[in-house]
Amino acid sequence: MKFVPAGVVPFVALLLLQRRPVAGRALLVTGPGCPGHGLCRSNVQEQTRRQVALLNATAQDLFSLYLKCQGEPFSSETDKLCNPGSVFFPAFHVNRTSERKEVMVAMYKLFAFLNASLGNITRDQEELNPTAKELLDRLHNTTKTTRGLISNLTCLLCKNYNVFQVDVSYGESSKGKSAFKKKQQGCQVLRKYVQVIAQAARVLLPHLSPP
Ligand SMILES: *[C@@H]1O[C@H](CO)[C@@H](O)[C@H](O)[C@H]1NC(C)=O
Ligand SMILES: *[C@@H]1O[C@H](CO)[C@@H](O)[C@H](O)[C@H]1NC(C)=O
Ligand SMILES: *[C@@H]1O[C@H](CO)[C@@H](O)[C@H](O)[C@H]1NC(C)=O
Ligand SMILES: *[C@@H]1O[C@H](CO)[C@@H](O)[C@H](O)[C@H]1NC(C)=O
Ligand SMILES: *[C@@H]1O[C@H](CO)[C@@H](O)[C@H](O)[C@H]1NC(C)=O
Ligand SMILES: *[C@@H]1O[C@H](CO)[C@@H](O)[C@H](O)[C@H]1NC(C)=O
Repeated sequence: MKFVPAGVVPFVALLLLQRRPVAGRALLVTGPGCPGHGLCRSNVQEQTRRQVALLNATAQDLFSLYLKCQGEPFSSETDKLCNPGSVFFPAFHVNRTSERKEVMVAMYKLFAFLNASLGNITRDQEELNPTAKELLDRLHNTTKTTRGLISNLTCLLCKNYNVFQVDVSYGESSKGKSAFKKKQQGCQVLRKYVQVIAQAARVLLPHLSPP
């Protein structure tokens, strides 16, 4: 049982900052820690559905635009340089037959990771490509949607499953790396994101379908 200070943030994503991130099993602590249901809006399920669908619908364009803005050698050697095999990304093993709670927890881990990664990517692109306005707009937009989604997932987890704490594994920070490495890490993460968000949408949307 982890210590959670009373009356502070209702939902705590524990940062596991490690040099080599591991996608360990979620340690879920359930208990009397969820705040009242007032936290959730009535249409939270529908909003969550829309946010996941929106992220899925815009992921490929975000990746393409990102790639275009990095120039060479990324455009011509995309498969080699942006192969996501060597970059950390949270495991996402749930499928349509998984329990709904398991799906929600996996979603939370995925989008908490994405939020942190987008933070690094946005910071790097503001530095490396400060005039790429459309890309920066899209990154900001995606981050905003992701944060809204996290808050809705937080509320669903709490309300339906009394889960108020999820351990999240984060990737490596790109801070201090070379310009090339920063571009490459962003490219790998965004490419993997395109694949995983499509899978996430396939798995999650049926769980949240309107009655
Ligand atoms: C679906 O996921 C569950 C765990 O959530 C696993 O036990 C099961 O084997 C998976 N089924 C398929 C077809 O991958
Ligand atoms: C999203 O990431 C930022 C860092 O870029 C962090 O400050 C913030 O707390 C994160 N938000 C959520 C909801 O995880
Ligand atoms: C960069 O990523 C690391 C690890 O995922 C995270 O801890 C940090 O908050 C991120 N930085 C920003 C500015 O989002
Ligand atoms: C940014 O978000 C707004 C509102 O959420 C949306 O209408 C617009 O299409 C988004 N733009 C991009 C480039 O994703
Ligand atoms: C859910 O998503 C909507 C739309 O982005 C947002 O306005 C709302 O604050 C989010 N969180 C909750 C708890 O409803
Ligand atoms: C996710 O986006 C892809 C590409 O736009 C699309 O083909 C697919 O149908 C979407 N999946 C869902 C479940 O909406």
